[in-house]
Amino acid sequence: MDKRSVCLLLICINVCLVIWLVSVQQSPMLDPEIMADFSGTGASGLSSTPQPPQSSANSGLPRRSRSRPNQIQPPSPSSSSTNDSSQVVSNSFDSNHLLATPPAMASQTPAPPGSSMHLMDLPNFVYLMDQPACDKNVRVLIFVHSAVRNVEKRRIIRETWADRKYIDQTPLRVIFLVGGVGENSERWQQFLGRENHQHGDLIQGNFEDAYRNMTYKHVMALKWFSEKCAHAQLLVKVDDDVFMNTPQLVKYLATPSLPEHSLLQDPELMLCRSVHHSRVKRSYRSKWRVTYKEYPHRYYPEYCPGMAIVYAPDVVRRLYEAAQKAQYFWVDDVLITGILAEETGSRITPLKYYLEQKDVRQLLSGEADLEDPPFLFTNHAIRPDESMAIWQMALDRIQRPLLTHPASSSPSASAAASLASKSPPAVPSANISEAQTSSSTGFS
Ligand SMILES: *[C@@H]1O[C@H](CO)[C@@H](O)[C@H](O)[C@H]1NC(C)=O
Ligand SMILES: *[C@@H]1O[C@H](CO)[C@@H](O)[C@H](O)[C@H]1NC(C)=O
Ligand SMILES: *[C@@H]1O[C@H](CO)[C@@H](O)[C@H](O)[C@H]1NC(C)=O
Repeated sequence: MDKRSVCLLLICINVCLVIWLVSVQQSPMLDPEIMADFSGTGASGLSSTPQPPQSSANSGLPRRSRSRPNQIQPPSPSSSSTNDSSQVVSNSFDSNHLLATPPAMASQTPAPPGSSMHLMDLPNFVYLMDQPACDKNVRVLIFVHSAVRNVEKRRIIRETWADRKYIDQTPLRVIFLVGGVGENSERWQQFLGRENHQHGDLIQGNFEDAYRNMTYKHVMALKWFSEKCAHAQLLVKVDDDVFMNTPQLVKYLATPSLPEHSLLQDPELMLCRSVHHSRVKRSYRSKWRVTYKEYPHRYYPEYCPGMAIVYAPDVVRRLYEAAQKAQYFWVDDVLITGILAEETGSRITPLKYYLEQKDVRQLLSGEADLEDPPFLFTNHAIRPDESMAIWQMALDRIQRPLLTHPASSSPSASAAASLASKSPPAVPSANISEAQTSSSTGFS
């Protein structure tokens, strides 16, 4: 080899090294662009049309404004210096004040001494909005992970499977989990304050509600349950685009003869439709792209996809304790139900029935029955009209045994029947219990 080829070889090696370094370490810089069009944080990327509380110029822009706040928010860069740092906290004070949110909140904001203020690597974790602890009647706490702006999805859930008129008669409780609104979004904070004032079902952590912060939300769920609802029999975690068959769960709880009744009493329960041998996404185009630094192996351990997981309290506590010591990894379900579950010896129990998209269509077209199979969850990305139609069927099923007079039950029965037999996509999604609705979004 002469000098020149040695030189060339060296240059080649250098170039390769640089390319590798860039691909492994600089990837977060590319991500905001890749993910710019995803509006869902708690759930999948199904883009609903969340209505912002204001009609300002930034409403149509991606909310991942962190990287270039000045471009996205041109109007008020000057007001930032004095106000910005305390923004989120002061907003929550404001909404406390003006909206008389539950008293539990007031004490939260100024760091109560001695309480556990850290959440994984966040040293100053607090709840910006909180709820009273579970009372004795709560047997299942259902946490719906939602993104700040998924107003519409929360509304559909409150009108279907989490309808208070139904839930309040059951041992279930439903709470939505959101994160902080981020910079320049104080109106969203006020909006959430109003939403919570009206429904009393939001818990908000002070980490920014961002895609790569989902793990904080999941660990917050484990923390809240462990500290304020640990006597309950189960914690259910769902995303805000999943239909949960709450009446089916109530039936399981109330019917000792069903095998699921004892299954749900298993103190080691971590129940889901698990994923095996899932390959880590390394492509730059993938929304799930993970760098080698974040996770070095080629495959994930078996884990529960975050859209629907049922936990027993002991499992929650173990996973929470492990999470507090764990290194942060933003793919929350892999970290908690895969890596930490393995670490703590928690095993996944496979969920038998689960409605995929095609099963939902079959159900709504009358080809399948609500209890055949008796499902607890649908797949994610369920449409509002599908949710409403399934709920109508479920309600009909609930009411039939309660109402002894056939005359009084027939109207709802026929309504559900017509929903079931006619073409499902035609179910009007606009016909959502009108009056309360418009006020619930706070736009009136
Ligand atoms: C914060 O900024 C708003 C205007 O954006 C102003 O009205 C308010 O007085 C400021 N508050 C403080 C504490 O500077
Ligand atoms: C996650 O939350 C933390 C704490 O609020 C924040 O500093 C960070 O920027 C957030 N991450 C993303 C990707 O937004
Ligand atoms: C909307 O719902 C009401 C009952 O809540 C019903 O009377 C009306 O016919 C429905 N409208 C449509 C278009 O389905």
